Amino acid sequence: YLEYGVENWGNTYKSSLQPLYIFQKRAIRIPPPAKYGGRHTVTLIPGDGIGPELLSHVREVFRFSCVPVDFEVVHVNSAAETEDDINNAITAIRRNGVALKGNIETNHTKPPSVKSRNNLLRTSLDLYANVMHCQSLPGVQTRHKNIDIMIIRENTEGEYSSLEHESVSGVVESLKIITRNNSLRIADYAFQLAREKGRRRVTAVHKANIMKLADGLFLQCCREVASGYPEITFDSMIVDNTTMQLVSKPQQFDVMVMPNLYGNVVSNVCAGLVGGPGLVPGANYGRDYAVFETATRNTGKSIADRNIANPTAMLLASCMMLDHLKLYDYASLIRNAVLVTMNETRLHTADIGGQGTTSEVVQSVMRVIQSKGQLTAEL
Ligand SMILES: *[C@@H]1O[C@H](CO)[C@@H](O)[C@H](O)[C@H]1NC(C)=O
Ligand SMILES: *[C@@H]1O[C@H](CO)[C@@H](O)[C@H](O)[C@H]1NC(C)=O
Ligand SMILES: *[C@@H]1O[C@H](CO)[C@@H](O)[C@H](O)[C@H]1NC(C)=O
Ligand SMILES: *[C@@H]1O[C@H](CO)[C@@H](O)[C@H](O)[C@H]1NC(C)=O
Repeated sequence: YLEYGVENWGNTYKSSLQPLYIFQKRAIRIPPPAKYGGRHTVTLIPGDGIGPELLSHVREVFRFSCVPVDFEVVHVNSAAETEDDINNAITAIRRNGVALKGNIETNHTKPPSVKSRNNLLRTSLDLYANVMHCQSLPGVQTRHKNIDIMIIRENTEGEYSSLEHESVSGVVESLKIITRNNSLRIADYAFQLAREKGRRRVTAVHKANIMKLADGLFLQCCREVASGYPEITFDSMIVDNTTMQLVSKPQQFDVMVMPNLYGNVVSNVCAGLVGGPGLVPGANYGRDYAVFETATRNTGKSIADRNIANPTAMLLASCMMLDHLKLYDYASLIRNAVLVTMNETRLHTADIGGQGTTSEVVQSVMRVIQSKGQLTAEL
């Protein structure tokens, strides 16, 4: 699939579609996450902007909490001409099964053959489900309260297939790919997660009134899967109404499932509702691998290396990772410490209206962890 760049896929849609299907059929058998002597090895990709500093704080908190995780650090140079770096990172994730990453910058002025490293990573590893849990945090002032939404976003196709061409000057065709197989598997992922978490309702977001075939297929697949989950209510909403409903009455939503681009837009709206990009963690799951990052995937370049970025989203992403590794006690210890810290207004960073610094927040998280540790020792 990766060999078929924009230049060398022909002009007919048929030939352009083939690589995707070849890719999907290739079944790779992958070992479970590495675990040596009770310790896990996780690939750490610092990325750009605030990624490196936030991840160094995660490592600090993990060391402090004696989390049995070792990191294999892999740097990806976003300015490199070749894809060697990202391919090394992908190989490392194949080996370890799990990764925690900062966002890798994408230079928009480069030609279309230079693909987003983040997107390459997700498609190469077939990380088909992007999961974001958007929840109101205690102590963070927002217009809307009691928000608790899970967003499941198809992560590998749709508008992100990187199939664009300009055969006739001034006319660009950009392909949106919706397949039955991938729509069924993302719908099934959403319903399974809803069942696991005891959720009551799944809403499919679409634009099937305009994209009758593509979004129509997506919607049809969701309906089919829904019939296997009679205890969960299924409904659907057009994407424009969805964004309007979200900003006026977000509490009406429970679990939402949608194609790639709507997922990008809706998840950013939701992050804004609960306080912004600094607060919400995100995860990308495939059959064999899992990659954790902040939900809104910004590099935060303008606030990098100034000790003002909010570390909450990345710390919570690391907790999602610990849950994935079944290190539930460590996950809840750190998550709880982060929530207690967020509840203290004087520690709030600038993004949520405070003057606290990144390291003050991290210090407080570690103090809370320590107090819990002493409590357990006394017991
Ligand atoms: C983006 O790429 C263009 C063209 O290769 C280059 O001139 C520019 O400096 C790059 N920008 C960044 C921020 O790397
Ligand atoms: C869809 O999945 C089925 C069953 O796994 C497989 O046989 C079929 O080839 C897939 N279709 C496409 C177009 O990839
Ligand atoms: C938008 O969604 C709301 C809530 O489900 C619904 O009552 C309303 O009819 C929808 N509006 C449109 C124009 O579809
Ligand atoms: C947050 O702070 C308030 C007031 O200080 C307190 O009542 C509440 O229990 C705290 N919540 C959490 C989750 O710590």
